[in-house]
Amino acid sequence: MKVLLLGSGAREHTIAWRLLQSLRLTKLWVADGNAGTAAIATNLPIKPDDIDRIIDAARSLEIDLVVVGPELPLSLGIVDRLASLGIAAFGPSKAAARIETSKSFALEVMKEANVACPDFWVFQDESSALRFLKGRSGPMVVKADGLAAGKGVILCATAKEAAEAVSACMGERAFGDAGDTVVIEEMLTGPEVSVFAFCDGQHISSLAAACDYKRLEDGNNGPNTGGMGSFSPPGFWNDELAHQVEHDILRPVVETMAINGYPYKGVLYAGLMLTPDGPKVLEFNCRLGDPETQVVLPRLTTDPLNVMQACVDGNLHQVPVIWDDQCYVGVVLASGGYPGGYQTGFAISGAETDSDDTTLFHAATRLESDGYATQLVTSGGRVMTVVGRGDSLAKAKAKAYDRVRKISFEGAIFRTDIAGGVEETITWPNR
Ligand code: AMP
Ligand code: GLY
Repeated sequence: MKVLLLGSGAREHTIAWRLLQSLRLTKLWVADGNAGTAAIATNLPIKPDDIDRIIDAARSLEIDLVVVGPELPLSLGIVDRLASLGIAAFGPSKAAARIETSKSFALEVMKEANVACPDFWVFQDESSALRFLKGRSGPMVVKADGLAAGKGVILCATAKEAAEAVSACMGERAFGDAGDTVVIEEMLTGPEVSVFAFCDGQHISSLAAACDYKRLEDGNNGPNTGGMGSFSPPGFWNDELAHQVEHDILRPVVETMAINGYPYKGVLYAGLMLTPDGPKVLEFNCRLGDPETQVVLPRLTTDPLNVMQACVDGNLHQVPVIWDDQCYVGVVLASGGYPGGYQTGFAISGAETDSDDTTLFHAATRLESDGYATQLVTSGGRVMTVVGRGDSLAKAKAKAYDRVRKISFEGAIFRTDIAGGVEETITWPNR
C-alpha cells in the first residue's frame, strides 16, 4: 500500500514509525512531517489542512490510504472530500468529527446514549449564561464549544470566576468563533485516563489506555501545555475497568452515532475521569492523542494497515486488535520558555541512535545545512518525545530518563516526574 500520512508532530513520527513495520506498506509520504519522519519516509511540503493540495498529491502519487493525524483537517472534512474522489482515508467524516469539534454535540450524543458525563448547560449568548450563574455557587468548568487549540477549558473555583470566563469567551471572544457557544459543566474530581479504540462505524477494537501530563512543571504545576509526558498502560487499568468503559461508554456512543447517520470511523479517544461514581467522560477526541500515541502505538502488535483498512471497509470485527503488555514511558523535551515565547534553531546533540529499549520521536525538529554538513536543530515548542520500554513502568521510566539525559540543546526543559506520581499507584475500583 502507498500511504500518505498527514501531520508533523511526535504523534505522526510515531504513526510513521509503526506504519514502516507493516508488511503491507510499499511507500510512505508525510505531509508535512519533521526531521524524524524525513529519515524514514518522504516528506512533502504541504500543510495537513491544505486540502486541495493534499488531494492533488494523493491523486498524483496514486495513494491507497491517507492517514490523518491531527484534528484540523478532519474538522474541515478532508475524509469526506477524499472519499468522494474514491480515495480511502483513515479518520472520521466531518459530521462524526463533531464529537471533538463541538463539545455541546458530544454532550448531546452522550445524553442520548445514556453515557456518564458531568451535568452540563449550553448557552448561545452571554446574558443567559451570566443569568444562570447568578443562581449558582461552587466550582464549575467553562468550555468554549469549538476547537480552541487545547486552551478553551477554564476551571473555575467560584461562580464569579465562571462569570469572568464566560465573558472572556463570549464578550471578549478570547477563542474567536470557538467561544460563540459556551458549555458550563459540573466540576468532577478524580484521576484521569485517555482511552483509545479503533472504530469502523459499527464495531470497536479492544482498548488501549494511557495517562498524559498537561502541566509544564513537576508536581502538575505551571501552565497547561500540549502535553509533557505520558505512560501506558496505567497500573490501575484492568479488565474490569476496560469492560466497563467499552460497554458503558464507547459502544453506546458508536451505536448512537451510527443510528443517527454519522457513523464513527477512525480512532475514538475518550478522556475520562475516574470519579467516586465511576468513569465519566470529560471529552472525546476524533484522533490519536499526543503524547499518548508515543506510548500506545508501540504496544500495537497487529499490523496497523490491516487495522486501518478494516476501519475504512467496516470489517474491524474480523481483525483482532492486540496490545502487548510491555510498559512505555514518554518524556517530552521542550524549548525553554514554552508554552510561552521561545527561541528556535538550537543545535540538538545526542539524538542520533535508537536503542532496543528507547525510541526517539521527533516533533519540532528540522535539518539545517551549511552546504558542507547537516545539523539537527529545534524548530518549535515541543521538540521531541523520548520513549523508554520495560516490563514495568519503573524500568521504562529509567530507560526513558537515561536517554533524555544524553540529549541536549540550549534551553531544553522536561519534567522529571513522568510516571512517577500517584497516577500509577491508584487502584480501581476504589473499594
Ligand atoms: P478537555 O479539553 O475537555 O479534556 O479539558 C481539559 C482538562 O480540563 C481535562 O483534562 C481535565 O483535567 C479538565 N476538565 C475538563 N472538564 C472537566 C470537568 N467537568 N471537571 C473537572 N475537570 C475537567
Ligand atoms: N493528550 C491530549 C490530546 O491529544 O488532546
